[in-house]
Amino acid sequence: MTRGKFIGAMLGGVAAMALSPRLGYAADENTPAPGGVANDCFRPGKPWLDTDGVPINAHGGGLLYVDGRYYWYGEIKVKGDAGNYAQVGISCYSSTDLYNWKNEGVALAVTDEAGSNLERGCILERPKVLQNKSNGTFVLWAHYERKGNGYNSAQVAVAVADNPRGPFKFVRAFRPNDQMSRDMTLFVDEQGVAWQVRSSEGNATLQLAKLTKDYLDCQPDFVRALEHTYPEAPALIYHDGWYHMIASHCSGWLPNAARHAVAKSVAGPWKELGNPAVGDNSAITFNSQSTYLLKPAGSNVIIYLGDRWEPKNPIDGTYIWLPLEIQDTQATLRWRDSWRLADVAT
Ligand code: DGJ
Repeated sequence: MTRGKFIGAMLGGVAAMALSPRLGYAADENTPAPGGVANDCFRPGKPWLDTDGVPINAHGGGLLYVDGRYYWYGEIKVKGDAGNYAQVGISCYSSTDLYNWKNEGVALAVTDEAGSNLERGCILERPKVLQNKSNGTFVLWAHYERKGNGYNSAQVAVAVADNPRGPFKFVRAFRPNDQMSRDMTLFVDEQGVAWQVRSSEGNATLQLAKLTKDYLDCQPDFVRALEHTYPEAPALIYHDGWYHMIASHCSGWLPNAARHAVAKSVAGPWKELGNPAVGDNSAITFNSQSTYLLKPAGSNVIIYLGDRWEPKNPIDGTYIWLPLEIQDTQATLRWRDSWRLADVAT
């Protein structure tokens, strides 16, 4: 973000605060630090400031809910082309209201050790974290590419922590089931079974594999979905008897039309239903690519989390959080300049 844009964002936030009917936040973790801004709505595509007043840096992210608190893990981007490679690692932010996020620091850090897996300049994308209920650990998976190898490694990095804030300790990098794995997500189904969903086979096909009991590997069998259609950016949610998947097509950092598929079981069969986005710019999903679907605790709202990538200056990338309206098997994604959970809860 340029200095001008940053100051603009700050002023915009201050103006929003002055107009807000909810002035006077409780003195808890959502209270901004001096100079910070309290957010009381989602503003898709606008700079989103954390409780220190700094733009949130958590791209390709995923959320985890633990004991009343949401954790947002994402790729830390920096300026310029270097920002397309991991220069810092994976960030962690936390929130109790989903609007105001506290920077919890670097959850998984790259290293300066030449030749090490997490050597600065490797690629770490789309981190997702699950809590393993059987042993209490927090397990992070991310798309991993060894430094200097472009996107040819097609592996995952797995790391563990005993605290959702980290620090996560790198365990290993590998190809799950000996299969290529690029864009990926983790998802726990209604039976409590954890899955890895990955773009595989040269990005042509999705593969879905159950995790092992310790969440450090995949079980030997896997299923395939959306075969030979180049799906990327998978995100899953369960709602009213159906598993819903939002994904994208494959066009590098350029946005394309979102895809929606439904299934009665994560194992499939998955039925593709088309682009859920409607209205202006729906053909490029409002200039975004999916990264996660969230149903906040105790709510019937489903939030589409997407990234608006800025590959020339990745730190300028913003976040597109919009309600995904679901009726039976149909999903609709409409643009909103700003919105609150209460606006869409039924
Ligand atoms: C699209 C993927 O969804 C992103 O995570 C990233 O890998 C870019 N491709 C790289 O071009």
